[in-house]
Amino acid sequence: MLNYRIRRRSQGKLAGNEQSRYNSPHTRIVLEGYMSSFDEIVSLCKQRGFVFQSSEIYGGIGGFWDYGPLGVELKNNIKQSWWRRVVQMRDDVVGLDASIIMNPQTWVASGHVEEFTDPLVDCKQCKKRFRADAIVNNTCPECGAVGQFTDVRRFNLMFKTYVGPVEESAALTYLRPETAQGIFVNFQNILVAMRKKLPFGIAQIGKAFRNEITPGDFIFRDREFEQMEIEYFVKPGTDDSWHQHWVEERLRWYIEDLGLRTEKVRARALPKEDLAHYSKATFEIEYDFPGKGWAEIEGIANRTDYDLKRHSQHSGKDLTYFDEETKEHYIPYVIEPSCGVDRIFLAVLLDAYHEEEVRGEKRVVLKLKPQLAPVKVAVFPLLRNRPEIVQKAKEIANALRKDFTVWYDDTASIGRLYRRQDEIGTPYCITVDVQSLTDNAVTIRDRDTMLQERVPIEHVAAVLKEKLGSSCRPS
Ligand code: GAP
Repeated sequence: MLNYRIRRRSQGKLAGNEQSRYNSPHTRIVLEGYMSSFDEIVSLCKQRGFVFQSSEIYGGIGGFWDYGPLGVELKNNIKQSWWRRVVQMRDDVVGLDASIIMNPQTWVASGHVEEFTDPLVDCKQCKKRFRADAIVNNTCPECGAVGQFTDVRRFNLMFKTYVGPVEESAALTYLRPETAQGIFVNFQNILVAMRKKLPFGIAQIGKAFRNEITPGDFIFRDREFEQMEIEYFVKPGTDDSWHQHWVEERLRWYIEDLGLRTEKVRARALPKEDLAHYSKATFEIEYDFPGKGWAEIEGIANRTDYDLKRHSQHSGKDLTYFDEETKEHYIPYVIEPSCGVDRIFLAVLLDAYHEEEVRGEKRVVLKLKPQLAPVKVAVFPLLRNRPEIVQKAKEIANALRKDFTVWYDDTASIGRLYRRQDEIGTPYCITVDVQSLTDNAVTIRDRDTMLQERVPIEHVAAVLKEKLGSSCRPS
């Protein structure tokens, strides 16, 4: 326990009405609400610098998004949380960062050149293109024309590009549609270099690209997105129990580490007819998105020995594993937990979004786990026209920067500054006031309770470290 004195300020004593308004727990949470549609989060994401439309000044481009200053922090925190749990906290998983463009034979072997297609139809009336399986009652979702579709064609979702200066078929290759294949083609390298024994996994975070026919639902279905994938290699015959292990382990991450509400996350076994060409069985982890319903954020597939076998056949390389215990050579089976950072980002934001009514006013607050919050501590001077107060606030902000992501702000009234930080999920705000000049203490305000504590400046860093814990420190 830290040795410092907390003096809770009584209501009305602080300079500035707005600061004291939220000071008593009796004045808050008359009403609490969650987001009812994507619209509010799209607007908040833009206004607060989380996500912008890509190349917006030219009218944007469908299925591409840019993560702004706060978005990139939140996204990094999600990725870091995943990496910590599945790589750094385990001794059976190692990391990899493979290239996006690979030898095109990779995609022949993996089955993507042949199989990675969506059924496509064109509306003869409005000329718009749709996934055939998204058409209801033979009616065009755009113009309403009935029975005006072309025959179904298969459309490969991989983006093509050329390596080198000549655009000829010999130079044709693809932007990877999944990060997984970079792992499979490195299986032998990692097995040998890291002297791994089964079961073991290889994890990777990276961009993937799919020329989706109908991108949409904000960042839910993009053409450029980021995946976090594990290929976990096991002895055939042990695959079903490892599959179960990974479903349970991944659910725990969403609930324990990301803090998603339990009732909003579930695992669902896919029916046989919905399985990908490589899968023996797949569970989807789904989130209950407002206005959309249950939708996939992660797939956990049993890929059997499909990929290593195919790469072995196409490359001519031996990708078997020698089991020293049984003295057998075999191709391992693979359990693949594969999730999308962008969808998780959306689920985290929607789950954390709260509206409260506080003394008749709406308060929007992102109740993010502190570990995920883009900014951990905001520092404000109560009066921005008092240089001594401003200087002290800046000194405190600078001193805290080595331990936390800190935001200094003096561009509005204190009430507005608090509201801005609530909206981006900052767990703690520090205010330097007139009294700080004489008592060398500041107030620390808690985002969720809105309670304020008076803490000596010399103890502020230690108090915040105790409140936020080590997982909130910059890495
Ligand atoms: N390697 C297996 C694989 O790629 P997937 O189910 O196609 O499996 C895994 O993709 C995850 O990647 C999905 O659960 C989803 O979170 C994310 N994802 C897939 N397509 C996406 C897209 N167009 N936009 C955003 N995320 C996507």
